[in-house]
Amino acid sequence: MNTPKHIAIIMDGNGRWARAKGLPRAAGHRAGITALREVVEHGLRRGINVLTVYAFSSENWQRPGSEVELLIELFITALNDEIDELFNNNVKLSFIGDVSVFPEQLQSSIQHAEQKTTANNGLNLVVAANYGGRWEIVSACRKLLASLPSGEGGDDCISEETLGQHLNLSGYPDPDLFIRTGGEIRLSNFLLWQLAYTEMYFTEVYWPDFNSDEFDKALEWYIGRQRRFGRTSEQITRSKSA
Ligand code: IPE
Ligand code: IPE
Ligand code: MG
Repeated sequence: MNTPKHIAIIMDGNGRWARAKGLPRAAGHRAGITALREVVEHGLRRGINVLTVYAFSSENWQRPGSEVELLIELFITALNDEIDELFNNNVKLSFIGDVSVFPEQLQSSIQHAEQKTTANNGLNLVVAANYGGRWEIVSACRKLLASLPSGEGGDDCISEETLGQHLNLSGYPDPDLFIRTGGEIRLSNFLLWQLAYTEMYFTEVYWPDFNSDEFDKALEWYIGRQRRFGRTSEQITRSKSA
């Protein structure tokens, strides 16, 4: 009952993990992929429905060109290497973000992975790539306006519900639990709309070290939270005992 249905993760700290070991940043990103594999497997074991992970932000293009290239290469290799295993584990893979600007090769790996796993229903793994929360909200506004007959635009047309239908994650419940590794206490433009009432868990652990034990710690912490959604704590206790 207290298992979060949807977990959103900012997988941060790959670079610092590598630096602490005297390794190049690339080694941190590679180790990050291994960590993600373990987290997905553990998510399946724990019955999580949706895992949304931040792989590349719309601001990450500002990194040195060599790091951006490396990340794109790693995405392609990881997708091609992992897709069979993901498929066999009944994982449905999908992407949010503007992937149309990525190189053709990555776009076709993404398309192939999404198509291959489209009928799976064990765990939804949503990868945010070239994603930004502000971009998502602006795109949703544009899509909503384009869907309205011209001249329309009153309160009934533009509401939290209608705008929400045009967001990238429409169809999924909002995240129950947010996890950010790597010690930074910020959102970095991730899921600005959807995290309105999410429980926020921050850990100093660098992403490559975030294993199933660390994942369980976050889940245990979540169990201890009381989610009130604006109500009083007495109201919550009363409705639970009723
Ligand atoms: C997160 O790790 C991975 C991506 C942003 C792609 P970082 O690369 O941000 O690692 P740090 O924050 O520099 O340690
Ligand atoms: C957020 O991490 C993006 C991803 C993990 C993909 P960053 O490392 O880019 O965030 P900032 O720049 O430190 O806020
Ligand atoms: Mg970082």
